[in-house]
Amino acid sequence: MNQPTATLPQGTGFGATMRKDNWWIAPIGIALLLLSFVVYSTWAAFVGAYYWVPGTNYLSPFYSPELWGNSPHAIWPGQPSWWASWMPPFSAALLILGLPAGFRLTCYYYRKAYYRSIWLDPVACAVGEPRKSYLGENALPLILWNIHRYFLYIAIVFVFLLTYDGIIAHMFPVNADGSPFVNLKFLADGKINPAFDSTLPAVAHHHVFGMSLVSLVLMLNPILIAGYTFGCHSLRHIVGGRKDCFAGGDGCGSDLHFKAWSLVSLLNRNHAVFAMSSLVVVGLADLVVRLVAMGIMPECRFF
Ligand code: FES
Repeated sequence: MNQPTATLPQGTGFGATMRKDNWWIAPIGIALLLLSFVVYSTWAAFVGAYYWVPGTNYLSPFYSPELWGNSPHAIWPGQPSWWASWMPPFSAALLILGLPAGFRLTCYYYRKAYYRSIWLDPVACAVGEPRKSYLGENALPLILWNIHRYFLYIAIVFVFLLTYDGIIAHMFPVNADGSPFVNLKFLADGKINPAFDSTLPAVAHHHVFGMSLVSLVLMLNPILIAGYTFGCHSLRHIVGGRKDCFAGGDGCGSDLHFKAWSLVSLLNRNHAVFAMSSLVVVGLADLVVRLVAMGIMPECRFF
């Protein structure tokens, strides 16, 4: 009996296809988004200024945690002694930004996104590829992407750090009389504050709760990053993927394993949405902090 056959709408040669739909819209849109983010975040990381706002606790997520720096958020003042003169001008973001960047670069979703939209290999289903052999992720350099599970552990720490930043963004430093505390040695541009008075307190008397557009963006940021991080494919494997069953007993996972796996799976089903929305919002968070610090945009304080 003759078996029914189907022909894939695949042409031969790079970009060749028999597809009639607008398959190229998604790769172009994703490429524009990813390249815009890479250009903006690289520029923002090297600027080294306007990443915090005096009189508030706003801190750009690109600079958090600030290990060394001149803002009140810095753990150690100034720049590290080992920062050599041949290096680019010191910026606190350069010390830490590689960690979340490495997490996203090796993420299974982003791999699919930039393999298709930037490397164009494969550019889309049933569309011709630029080469004939396929080594995939079994050889250098892509085999290194297996490091993703280790970036995950670091990314989880960042979720908590950014959540802390989002919470304290709602706590505004004030003097004893309730006026904003701005007696800081440095300004947001990194220069020495000429109005700094060493005879006055160098730390806020207390903090008051408040809310602004900037504080809400800084809180939305860790929520989306948590949705992205806790929906990670590696985490799904860690919490339940190694189990043959969830019923308990020999070799099986517990109900707790099943609940954790179900929760991660729930987020995992929307991993692409969290990946892209968290990318946009983390860039937006840096942008609004930067514009407010530069005096270009009001912080839009609600109370
Ligand atoms: Fe995307 Fe792990 S697979 S964050």
